Amino acid sequence: MNSGHLRRSFLTLLLTTALAATVSAAPAPKMEKEDPNAPVSYFKKIRPILQGQCQGCHQPAKAKGGYVMTDFAKLVAGGEDCAKDKKQAVVAKDPESSFLVQQITPKDGAAEMPPKKAPLGNVDIQLIRRWIAEGAVDDTPANARQRFDADHPPVYQRPPVVTSLDYSPDGSLLAVAGFH
Ligand code: HEC
Repeated sequence: MNSGHLRRSFLTLLLTTALAATVSAAPAPKMEKEDPNAPVSYFKKIRPILQGQCQGCHQPAKAKGGYVMTDFAKLVAGGEDCAKDKKQAVVAKDPESSFLVQQITPKDGAAEMPPKKAPLGNVDIQLIRRWIAEGAVDDTPANARQRFDADHPPVYQRPPVVTSLDYSPDGSLLAVAGFH
């Protein structure tokens, strides 16, 4: 064995040991035991499904069918069709009457929502149905709620720090960086 080879094997050994140490040093992921009979959490289970599959077309900047799903009250109320037919997207304790459930339930392998995509998986559909059957509770923690929007701007307690400032070349617009 020449010294170059030796050095290489030593390096490999070092690297392997370092890697093994890193892997074993990582804390074992906490296995939270889930009670399968616990009520379905909107915040933990339903919201992520809607975020991933629906909110691209149903949010304030792009509200297809006049339906906004990022605001809980509007998610429940529904959009134009619901307003027209005096029904609700989510009827607590009544998945059958919930327009949202009708829209995601496949008929002959195809569902109305999401359009032009495969229907939601059966597990997700059953979760949504169960959440509604259990009362469609909004369990979003207070610290995760959106506090500010265009209609509810924050009130500054002290003069805000201006971190940057610029004006348009014609001097008609002034842009100030700020939080919300
Ligand atoms: C690609 C865009 C798109 C996506 C993604 C999408 N929708 Fe829609 N949604 C629409 C459009 C467009 C309408 C208006 C009715 C129509 O044209 O079919 C609508 C209407 C609705 C309505 C009727 C609201 C009313 O009262 O008028 C419901 C309920 C609904 N969508 C639920 C969902 C759900 C649940 C998902 C996710 C699983 C979803 N949508 C994903 C485009 C989308």
